[in-house]
Amino acid sequence: MPSNLILEVNNLSKNFHIKNSNIFSKDKVIKALDDISFNIKKGEIFGLVGESGCGKSTLGRSIVGLTKDVEGQIFFEGKNIKNIKRLSKKVQIIFQDPLSSLNPKKKIGWILEEPLKIHKIGNKEQRLNMVNKILDLIGLDNSYKDKYAKELSGGQRQRISIGSALMLNPELIIADEPVSALDVSVQSQILNLMLDLHEKLNLAYLFISHNLDVVYYMCDRVAVMYAGKIVEIASAEEIYDKPLHPYTKVLLNSVLKFDENIDLSNEITEGNRNLSVEFSCPYYKKCTYAKEECRTKAPKIKNINGENELEHLVRCNLF
Ligand SMILES: Nc1ncnc2c1ncn2[C@@H]1O[C@H](COP(=O)(O)OP(=O)(O)OP(=O)(O)O)[C@@H](O)[C@H]1O
Ligand SMILES: [Mg+2]
Repeated sequence: MPSNLILEVNNLSKNFHIKNSNIFSKDKVIKALDDISFNIKKGEIFGLVGESGCGKSTLGRSIVGLTKDVEGQIFFEGKNIKNIKRLSKKVQIIFQDPLSSLNPKKKIGWILEEPLKIHKIGNKEQRLNMVNKILDLIGLDNSYKDKYAKELSGGQRQRISIGSALMLNPELIIADEPVSALDVSVQSQILNLMLDLHEKLNLAYLFISHNLDVVYYMCDRVAVMYAGKIVEIASAEEIYDKPLHPYTKVLLNSVLKFDENIDLSNEITEGNRNLSVEFSCPYYKKCTYAKEECRTKAPKIKNINGENELEHLVRCNLF
């Protein structure tokens, strides 16, 4: 593996099996991840977009080991991390709703120190110094150590969850919709903090978001997911200026609207599994450019850029 890669994900697949309460009906299989491969370079901000239910969180959670029984390989700095018991200190995850991930009974100082204690890092004084240093990095003064999460605003809480992720000096942070729950006015402050930390600490991010404008602002490269598959990967500029996959074009043309009744084409039953997934493009029913071939042939991912350019990968029979 070339040494400039921090993360390499190869052929990751994850099915969720949902038991049907009606014994005469078949169980449902949700292909949340379907043969996902991509990599992230050291210090790179890699975006992941796609509609609700396409598998973004499952992918993020699989990388940090929160989702189990995943097929495929995940290499972090060349080491296969999929089957290790303890999560790597070097990969951390932050979530949309910091309130649910911060212990309500403990003060912020305790919360920030906890990862150091778990990993037996430093003595009390050294740990306190590290907590103060991190508070400074996330733009909060030392008095926040004595507060509880419920006393903080949404933006301050998200700063703390970023701070908590930083305590172990990670090289990659999986950020799953880190600003979606915040007021618009606060979103840009948190995004700028994340960019600042990326610069100062050479942090790489897997940045998961619904919001394409945010992704364009933040990311170097972007992957577009549809129904458990990556359908396009390119630089943020190319995704915006030269989108190739019909689904990416739709995403760009419509500010993403989430319809409760959306037809999630990654939901399939055991019976028609082969037919619907293995032998067709998952997007063909909705695709305005679909040809007969798209019903019978699953497209493979191809690079449409030349050898000396940054890859532009697209999974579509039209290319
Ligand atoms: N623990 C689980 N058990 C069963 N099904 C699950 C589980 N987690 C996710 N799924 C299903 O897997 C698919 C992908 O879900 P996931 O949460 O990864 O999507 P997402 O892209 O993060 O969506 P959103 O944008 O709404 O956060 C969905 O159909 C979801 O219902
Ligand atoms: Mg999600």
